[in-house]
Amino acid sequence: MIEAASAFGCTMRKTVVEELKKIVSEDRLSTKVADLYVYGFDASIHHKNPDVIVRPVNTKEVSEIVKLAFRTRTPIIPRGAGTAMCGHAVPLKGGIILDMTLMNKIKEIHVEDLYCVVEPGVVYDKLNAALAKKGFWFPTTPGSGEACTIGGMVVTNASGMRAIKYGATRDYVLGLEIVLPTGDIIHSGTRTLKNSSGYQIDRLMVGSEGTLGVVTEVTLKLAFKPRASAMTLAGFNSLQDAGKCVSNIIARPLMPSAIELMDSVCIKAVNKCMNVGLPDVAAICMIEVDGHPSAVEDELKIVEEICKQSGAVTTEASRDKKRIDYWTYARKAIMPSLSRYGEKFVSVALADDMSVPISRIPEAVVAFQKIAEENGVVIGTYGHSADGNLHTKMLVEPGSDDSWRRGERAVGQIFDKVLELGGTVTGEHGVSITKAPYMKKERADSLETMRKIKKALDPRNIMNPGKMFDWDGNIIAHLRYPAFTESQGCMPSEDRVDKQEERASGK
Ligand code: MLT
Ligand code: ZN
Repeated sequence: MIEAASAFGCTMRKTVVEELKKIVSEDRLSTKVADLYVYGFDASIHHKNPDVIVRPVNTKEVSEIVKLAFRTRTPIIPRGAGTAMCGHAVPLKGGIILDMTLMNKIKEIHVEDLYCVVEPGVVYDKLNAALAKKGFWFPTTPGSGEACTIGGMVVTNASGMRAIKYGATRDYVLGLEIVLPTGDIIHSGTRTLKNSSGYQIDRLMVGSEGTLGVVTEVTLKLAFKPRASAMTLAGFNSLQDAGKCVSNIIARPLMPSAIELMDSVCIKAVNKCMNVGLPDVAAICMIEVDGHPSAVEDELKIVEEICKQSGAVTTEASRDKKRIDYWTYARKAIMPSLSRYGEKFVSVALADDMSVPISRIPEAVVAFQKIAEENGVVIGTYGHSADGNLHTKMLVEPGSDDSWRRGERAVGQIFDKVLELGGTVTGEHGVSITKAPYMKKERADSLETMRKIKKALDPRNIMNPGKMFDWDGNIIAHLRYPAFTESQGCMPSEDRVDKQEERASGK
């Protein structure tokens, strides 16, 4: 039996577990080895076991659990669906995983006041299904919408393909109920669309990645669902032409609801694995427009014209929902398809969601290709190019130290280029572990302020410790994969984790 990794001793762990049993019923608490192992993952490259998992059903329970964690100085990590790609839900220091998915009620929908109130464990697509019945939606469209939860979206400021027109999660948060790291419950924001009443603490929680408290209720602004939408799929003989097409559309001026870019690696991967029959070109743009039906028709014509002027070699426009859904499905299939692109590779979220000013996309994508070649790694580039947000997924051999090292080098060069272009290392996935060293570079002059805020709110550093500015190592650490010539067993042994820790801290 493998013991859970622990930041606190065995006796303390027993005490904490016994105390937790007084707060939640036994069926909502687990210390089973299999559960601890599973809850050590999210969608990132990292893994570490927690000591205990609890599944609260209301704010009072959350508050009591956090009070216990505060009193016993136990690390506590709030978790939604675990779709985060940079390690947000990985309990680096062990401790309590606070699984928020049972707090999944849509409490109120007030279309006449343009807001709804939900618990943090509500799944994005489920909320939209409820809103759609009334002609409204929460339009930020994260790629993981089928699974990701509203609480996770708030604390990562998640978004997706439609952010160009509709913004990110932060643009919809009107108010939050928060359990502070001391266990105290506070409310920030309002149910009104405007509010200038004091510090916007709810805004501070957006993007805080579980390091400042636990979100237990979210009030979200609603958007009107567009009456019509259509999509043009344009193929290009070069990635630069596709990138230029994006800025030509925006500069026209024309506001698309999305432009998804895919390079040839991604096109080949989805054609091979999903047999979707996308044109075999160097790059594709999927351009979506939405709004009033007659406006959509006008805009489709303009989009077609701009695509051709920008060098498109194929264009196909569709108003048919099934066809559009099919293209969107092909786009969503990129990440899993990349993992089956070559026999020995897995696709990993490394340097995965940078944003650059829209006009710098052509320069960025060309630089990424060059960096990939120079480091002997395969990189698939795609993303929400309309707002400058690109995704790169790296293909690495999970058991090869050398492959990880080349990937790591490429990540550093990619982020240096992104910062040189005036971009950010993360547009929508957040920082956590995988982007921590580069966020520190990007935000060098505000790190001290972040640390002071953290210390003021979480003086015992119990909330999701060791992440963001608190992470001191490399990114190839606490890997979920067997690597660095260590045992090839599928379960990360504590030995291996220790070696990785040494490597991460540069020892
Ligand atoms: C997406 O756009 O589908 C998500 O952000 C996940 C990703 O592909 O990186
Ligand atoms: Zn995305």
